[in-house]
Amino acid sequence: MRVPNIWLRDNCQCATCVHTETKQRLLDTFKIPQDISIKSHEIQEDGINVGWSDGHNSKYTMGFLRHACTDFGMKNIVRRGLSKLEIWDSSIASDPPKVSYDWFSRGDFVKMILNRIRQYGFCYIDDVPFNEPEPTEKLLERISFIRPTHYGGFYDFTADLASADTAYTNIALEAHTDTTYFSDPAGLQAFHLLSHTEGEGGASLLVDGFKVAKDLYESDMEAYEVLSTVDVHCHASGNDGISIQPYKGFPVLQHDLTSGNLLQVRWNSSDRASVDLPMDRVDEWYNAARKWDALVKKKGNEYWEQLTPGRLLIFDNWRVMHGRSAFTGKRRICGAYINRDDWISKYKMLHHGREKVLSHLL
Ligand SMILES: [Fe+2]
Ligand SMILES: [Zn+2]
Repeated sequence: MRVPNIWLRDNCQCATCVHTETKQRLLDTFKIPQDISIKSHEIQEDGINVGWSDGHNSKYTMGFLRHACTDFGMKNIVRRGLSKLEIWDSSIASDPPKVSYDWFSRGDFVKMILNRIRQYGFCYIDDVPFNEPEPTEKLLERISFIRPTHYGGFYDFTADLASADTAYTNIALEAHTDTTYFSDPAGLQAFHLLSHTEGEGGASLLVDGFKVAKDLYESDMEAYEVLSTVDVHCHASGNDGISIQPYKGFPVLQHDLTSGNLLQVRWNSSDRASVDLPMDRVDEWYNAARKWDALVKKKGNEYWEQLTPGRLLIFDNWRVMHGRSAFTGKRRICGAYINRDDWISKYKMLHHGREKVLSHLL
């Protein structure tokens, strides 16, 4: 493996080059002479000492060099917080991923929840107190801080159209992802039905967006390509004085261009604005989206569950679509959004530990 001198000098790990507490780079990279070279080196049992032409001395441990040079696959997994995915369909109803609230005080409570969400895209927490919303809020705050939006932060509402969005009504909602009108859509979304009185209905629908993407990929590559490349604009304009729009359009299927992995599903026909194709070609997107929509609505892909007070649902809004059937009566629901980077970073720290996360930075 060839390691360019500039990289090795720039990544010296000594206390002069990296702050021991903050882990931030102290070294001015661009003061390193462009022709920096190694004057001397000494191989030791646990690493290599290097004397540089700029007078600096560095020590590189074998572990550091191994991580930096040869461990690309593992680095990828740790850095991106990847996990083995369980792709599911309607049959998940017989054994959905869940954790008991009884384990709240255990040190690995949040780890158990996030591991399941990473794997399945969602997790239930059963037996959460439902007389008031605070226990749900406390639980979510253990994952990370709650993301405020123009609707507020942690919410607790009864269906009354107070916030000018169909989510606050009692009509049926097709499977969708939330906040496509942000360039960084909400990472996690949580719902807890605290009470449902004087009526019925309102079953919850979950659809694994990665399963639907797999179905489309296997049945129509061309449509998959269109949904992966054509940008779609969105907006949230129901509140007085507000029209939120992302700074650019984004495709329905977003990929990590380095690894090729599917990263995010953005699907919300209610909040869709223009499709970034010339008008005379816009039907190409509609044709592809029609195929996608049919797979989203395929019975075998729909997982329906009647949520009851005490069962908190947390799901990955970048993967799992949600909806609900119409209902009558009054429903009190609380919940919140958590940012993607915050929950994935937390997942990585709990799953791999700080040392491993930091050793896979370079
Ligand atoms: Fe929603
Ligand atoms: Zn140094």
